Amino acid sequence: MKNGYNPLSEEVWAEPSIGYRHLLEEEPVHFFEAFDPPFYTLSRFADVQAALLDIETYSSEWGQGPRFSPPGGMLSNPPQHTFYRGLVQQAFTPRAIAEWGERITALSEELLDQRTGTQAWDLHDDYAFPLPVIVISEMLGVPGDDLQKFKHWSDITVEAMGAEDPTPFAAEMGELAAYLLNTIRQRRAEPQEDLISALVVAEQDGKGLADEELLGVVNQLFVGGNETTTSLITNMIWRLLQDRSLWERLVQDPGLIDIAIEESLRFDPPVLGLYRTTTREVEMEGGTIPKDAKVMMHYAAANRDPATFESPNDFSLDRERSRHLGFGLGVHFCLGAPLARLEARIALRTLLQRCPDLQLLGDGERIAPFFLWGRRRLPVTG
Ligand code: HEM
Repeated sequence: MKNGYNPLSEEVWAEPSIGYRHLLEEEPVHFFEAFDPPFYTLSRFADVQAALLDIETYSSEWGQGPRFSPPGGMLSNPPQHTFYRGLVQQAFTPRAIAEWGERITALSEELLDQRTGTQAWDLHDDYAFPLPVIVISEMLGVPGDDLQKFKHWSDITVEAMGAEDPTPFAAEMGELAAYLLNTIRQRRAEPQEDLISALVVAEQDGKGLADEELLGVVNQLFVGGNETTTSLITNMIWRLLQDRSLWERLVQDPGLIDIAIEESLRFDPPVLGLYRTTTREVEMEGGTIPKDAKVMMHYAAANRDPATFESPNDFSLDRERSRHLGFGLGVHFCLGAPLARLEARIALRTLLQRCPDLQLLGDGERIAPFFLWGRRRLPVTG
């Protein structure tokens, strides 16, 4: 790039990948001063991988976002992280997730039946957005009857995470917390067959969680699983329809669905990058990062590193095995990955069967904040 790299510039905002070559080739340890607090970015696959595995140097104690925030729930280091993750994992096993397949299929069919128009419709609003929100609401056991309210709360939470000053969002985030806390208390009094009821009684080494501690975990599951999965479905369909030969190949051969999902996670990861905080000064080939600095792990740039991926800027259905960083790596590897993959698989399969002639009517618009990547609208027909 001509004037260095600015993650907030208009051109990078519209298409983040145009900045990756500069990061990878010119500034593998990039310092961005214009944000408060200023932060570093690591982009080479080998650097991001090494940093994610070195949890003593790159700590999660000060939040996943660009601002410093206190540790809480799984947003922490071991041993606290191990304790919380162990508790949630008990209720979130791959087998428990797989049992949701039938329900997700039925929901995908229903959403396509209810499309607002038979001609033009919105792949985001009518399909990719409601599907994960309804699924996680039903899983947790929070009433899923007010989708727009949930969407708003989800949006506010991620916007607050990316803002230099989160105070304008505090009141609405308080509303979400009150809503979830209320559900947690109800389930403690009267357990049901849902994830919150399972978490209320879950114990690790004879120790369980108090309601306020559970709130952080439930909040992370609720928010972490919504917009990201919506973006995976939307980004994937967007790219497949941009190059129609890809879409047609999948219509002919749905056996390629899992490759399409992994390629989308590599090419357009819904989380472009998350943050760590250094616990000591780190000297690297491309520069020195001081102690107590925020560092963005740029999964998306690492996923386009030519040292790791052949023809990294091609979206290809011929990549057999892709070790992308779309779900992170190491102890914080995405807990919801099996659910996200299952939802994306069913969503794409159902669309290919029901709408083989689907076409884009535009590119919609991107979501905020700068470290997330998805479309908030995607007009289609067919
Ligand atoms: C395509 C969809 C998704 C993407 C791209 C995604 C991405 C990620 C990434 C990159 C991390 C690593 C965070 C870090 O290293 O600090 C993560 C962690 C996490 N994700 Fe996901 N996620 C997705 C779906 C979900 C779903 C569906 C859920 C749950 C319902 C979920 C729950 C979590 C949780 C609880 C963690 C924290 C794990 C830990 O710190 O040990 N995610 N996710």
